[in-house]
Amino acid sequence: MTETKKTFYITTPIYYPSANLHIGHAYCTVMADTMTRYKKMQGYETYFLTGSDEHGQKIERVAKAEGITPLEYTDKIVANFKALWQRLLISNNDFIRTTEKRHMTIVQQIFKTIYDKGDIYKSEYEGHYCTPCETFFTSRQLIDGNCPDCGRPTELVKEESYFFRMNKYQERLLAYIDQHPDFIQPVSRRNEMINFIKQGLEDLCISRTTFDWGIPVPIDEHHVIYVWFDALTNYISALGYGTKQDELYQKFWPADVHLVGKDIARFHAIIWPCILMAAELPLPKQIFGHGWVLLDSGKMSKSKGNVVDPNVLLDKYGVDAVRYFLLREISTGSDGYYSEEALVKRINIDLANDYGNLISRTIAMIDKYFSGIVPPPEKSGDYDDDLKGIALSVGKNAAVCLDKLDFPGALSAIWQLISRANKYIDETAPWVLAKDDSQKSRLGTVLYNLLECIRISTILVAPFMPLVPQKVSEQMGYDLTNATWDEGCRWGVLPSGGKVTKKDAIFPRIDPKTLELAPISSIENTTPQTAITSAPVKAEITYDDFAKLDLRVVEVLDCQKVANADKLLQFTLKMDKETRTVVSGIAKFYDNPQALIGKKLVLVANLKPKKIRGILSHGMLLSAASDDDSTLELLQLNKDDIQSGFNVQ
Ligand code: MSP
Repeated sequence: MTETKKTFYITTPIYYPSANLHIGHAYCTVMADTMTRYKKMQGYETYFLTGSDEHGQKIERVAKAEGITPLEYTDKIVANFKALWQRLLISNNDFIRTTEKRHMTIVQQIFKTIYDKGDIYKSEYEGHYCTPCETFFTSRQLIDGNCPDCGRPTELVKEESYFFRMNKYQERLLAYIDQHPDFIQPVSRRNEMINFIKQGLEDLCISRTTFDWGIPVPIDEHHVIYVWFDALTNYISALGYGTKQDELYQKFWPADVHLVGKDIARFHAIIWPCILMAAELPLPKQIFGHGWVLLDSGKMSKSKGNVVDPNVLLDKYGVDAVRYFLLREISTGSDGYYSEEALVKRINIDLANDYGNLISRTIAMIDKYFSGIVPPPEKSGDYDDDLKGIALSVGKNAAVCLDKLDFPGALSAIWQLISRANKYIDETAPWVLAKDDSQKSRLGTVLYNLLECIRISTILVAPFMPLVPQKVSEQMGYDLTNATWDEGCRWGVLPSGGKVTKKDAIFPRIDPKTLELAPISSIENTTPQTAITSAPVKAEITYDDFAKLDLRVVEVLDCQKVANADKLLQFTLKMDKETRTVVSGIAKFYDNPQALIGKKLVLVANLKPKKIRGILSHGMLLSAASDDDSTLELLQLNKDDIQSGFNVQ
């Protein structure tokens, strides 16, 4: 009888090749890679998928502006994606491109299956399309007439479209989420999704006729399939679903984890399960919506241009340190800040001082006191039981954390052993033992124990920092490169008699004083930045039309994020003697809303009040914005004697 191995299938989002990737994308892919390596060490048969999401109006426009075809454009960027993943030691099994035939055929096939079943129908669509987000919204969903996700203006689109009966699956999906508490994680995201579904799922428009760069609707070549329907299907098309060669699908579907950013959790936790239910396929076991990598200036994003190129950091600090930093610094479900100073601090304290010193001190002492030969452990002495107890528990503790994708928790569990071992050196003072010949065997035991702690911690850090085991093995004279997780959970595995070799520090200390910081916005695009073309001027109006607007100067008394609404800011505004509340969907452009207090802005004061998330918003603040979601700034007045309540004309 052949034993079937436990399997583990993890995916990252397939990234848009609208520009090169930044460390926010690297963060997600490094997490997925670490999970894969960890599960592999635990004996799982793993499958790890990443890729590129290449269709849609945005890519079509960028390519056109460059005078090349969309595919020529994405070919170049995708080559950079792949090169970056290699440098980050990403061990993906496959890289799926949505422009590949193997994918396109399956998307069409699933469309057809759902259509034949009656869950896709043709109708007329009238809605608001946000091109940067590639998403349709109903009038009800817009905020101040703008996209509720990014705050940009939307285009009113009226066209014949195909619709997916998502509403039909609403109750089934809610019941599924209810019965599967781990289906959407972390819990905050799960609650967010439940609330969203309970507000009512509308049927989803899943085709477009106004651009061509997409997969044709199989029953109607005038339409292309909505990018998210296309993109989500990658998770099964890459496994050969629907083809004769579907062994991977049979083996690995349903996925164990779709790891995605919190901004796209909704597509994965709502639209994708509904598509799968309609196609009568099993749902993934978990959607994990991770937080964002933030800079002081806000969310790192291609469109904002405040990005850090992972390649620059890799050149300066090496792959292990960059991976360690990302995994240690950011609590997986929450947002976390990146700064190069914080990265250097982690390298100096955690890697050079704690871990690196433990290795170099231990190896140096074995070299000095035992001519480099690993001594055998003899009788236990003071502190040994405590040290062994911790050594035996870290593997288990780290595994509990990793199974919840809690990378910082797992690393801090491992560092407990590293810190304990460093303390053990101070407690046992081997240099004192070395002065007394009668203590030779105790000295040998102490150094053996330390080396055993190094062996264990090095095995356990392997999924996070893949090059470390090789480097430590060379110094320890014992091969740790293919160790199993279980070997990292046992004590006394290291044989004595081996030969250690003193080498350079694995993580050299960096002098913060001599540090030259890598520039922010430093992604070198092989493709020049595309000029953003502004939208055509709207139809003429008369002065009387304009005069109907009452534009006023207002002063910001307070500005806060709206609870449970990532995109929204709530302003309290002074307008002469009146106080106004205004809700605006521009939170992503202002990470420190309080900094707006005292600013003088421009309000459309006579706009009919409207309830947004239960808050009565009275008026609309004016802002300047690019057409492509890249930037936005509230209009501000700077002269001291301009006062709130003044007219703006
Ligand atoms: N193409 C879609 C995904 C389709 S999956 C079927 C897409 N692509 S994206 O390139 O815009 O974003 C991909 C992922 O990168 C998202 O999960 C998003 O959250 C993540 N990130 C983008 N900026 C980020 C940070 N600053 N920090 C962490 N992750 C970030 O959406």
